[in-house]
Amino acid sequence: MNNKINDLLRRVEEFTPKSAAEVEEFRIKILGKKGEMNALLEEFKSVAPELKREFGQKINQLKNRALERVNTLKEEFAAAATPTSAIGDMTRPGSKEELGSRHPISLVKNEICDIFSRLGYTIADGPEIEDDWHVFSALNFPPEHPARDMQDTFFIEKNPDVLLRTHTSSIQVRTMERQKPPIRVVCPGRVFRNEAISYRAHCIFHQIEGLYIDEGVSFADMKQSILYFAKELFGESATIRMRPSYFPFTEPSAEVDVSCNLCGGKGCPVCKGTGWLEIMGCGMVDPNVLEASGIDSKKYSGFAFGMGVERIAMLKFGVKDLRLYFENDVRFLHQFDSVL
Ligand code: DAH
Repeated sequence: MNNKINDLLRRVEEFTPKSAAEVEEFRIKILGKKGEMNALLEEFKSVAPELKREFGQKINQLKNRALERVNTLKEEFAAAATPTSAIGDMTRPGSKEELGSRHPISLVKNEICDIFSRLGYTIADGPEIEDDWHVFSALNFPPEHPARDMQDTFFIEKNPDVLLRTHTSSIQVRTMERQKPPIRVVCPGRVFRNEAISYRAHCIFHQIEGLYIDEGVSFADMKQSILYFAKELFGESATIRMRPSYFPFTEPSAEVDVSCNLCGGKGCPVCKGTGWLEIMGCGMVDPNVLEASGIDSKKYSGFAFGMGVERIAMLKFGVKDLRLYFENDVRFLHQFDSVL
C-alpha cells in the first residue's frame, strides 16, 4: 500500500502534459470514478486498524495534491490558449480617454439663442436642402437677382428649384406658413454658399435668423431688442448703431454695428480703426414677404434680423481665421473648454 501511494505521488509530481486533453485524461485516470485513487480507497478498507491512521493521512494528502496539480495544469493551458493580444500587457498604464467639449460655434449659437429666449423667442428649424420659393421667391427676390446666380448658390443636380439654402431666412418663410402671429422665433442653422474658402469666408457656415411679427411692431421695438442682445452678448457697455442698407425681404433695412469690445470704440486693428464691428443685418419685414406667406400685412407688421455665428464667435473670442472653426484641431477646440 505504501509503495502504491508513493508511486502515485511521484507520477502526479512528474506529470508533464503537452495539452489540456492530456490533463483531462490524467484526471480521469487518477481521480475519476474508476480511477486509481478510488481503487486505493477501496484497498484502504482492508488495512489493519492500527495502520488506518497513517495510511488515511497519506491518502488524503495524495488526493489533495493530485487535485491541486490537475487544476493548476488546467489553468496554465487555458491561459496559454487565450491570445495575449486580446488581453494586452496587463502591467501597462491605461490609455487616457480624452473628454470632448462643446464646439465654440455651438457655444456661441446656444448663448445667442438663450439671450433671445429671455425675450420670449422660441427656436424654429427648417431643412438645409431647400427650394427656390423658401430661399428666394417668398423673400421678395426678383427673378433676376444675382444671389440666384450659380456663383453664390449650390444647386442640386440640374434642377434649379432644389438648392442648398444660402441663408436661414428660409426658416422665416416656413414659420410664417405654418404659424399665425404673434410669431417670435430664432432660427439657427447651417448655410451654404459657393464661395472661395479664405480666412474670412467659407462655403459652409452658420447663421441665426430672428423674426418677430405681431400687431403694431415698430422699428423702435427692433432697435431696442437688438440693443438688449448686444449688451447681453458683449457686455453692459456695448452700444449699437444702425446704417441704412438693402435686403429684398425687409424695408427699411439696416446693417447693425456694435461698439468694438477690444478697444472700447477708440479704434484698433480688429475694428480697422473705426471703433465699430458689423454684427448683423436687419429690417422691417417687407409687406410682400408677409403676404407671400399668407399673413395680412395691413393687420400685422414685424422685424427680422440675421447674423453669422462664425463672425460673432470671431469677434467674441478674437479668432482671426474662420477656417479654424472647421479644422477641429483639438488644440484649438480645448481653449474653449471653460468659456461660457
Ligand atoms: N439673410 C441675410 C444674409 O444672409 C441676413 C439678414 C439680413 C437676415 C437682414 C434678415 C434681415 O432677416 O432682416 O445675409
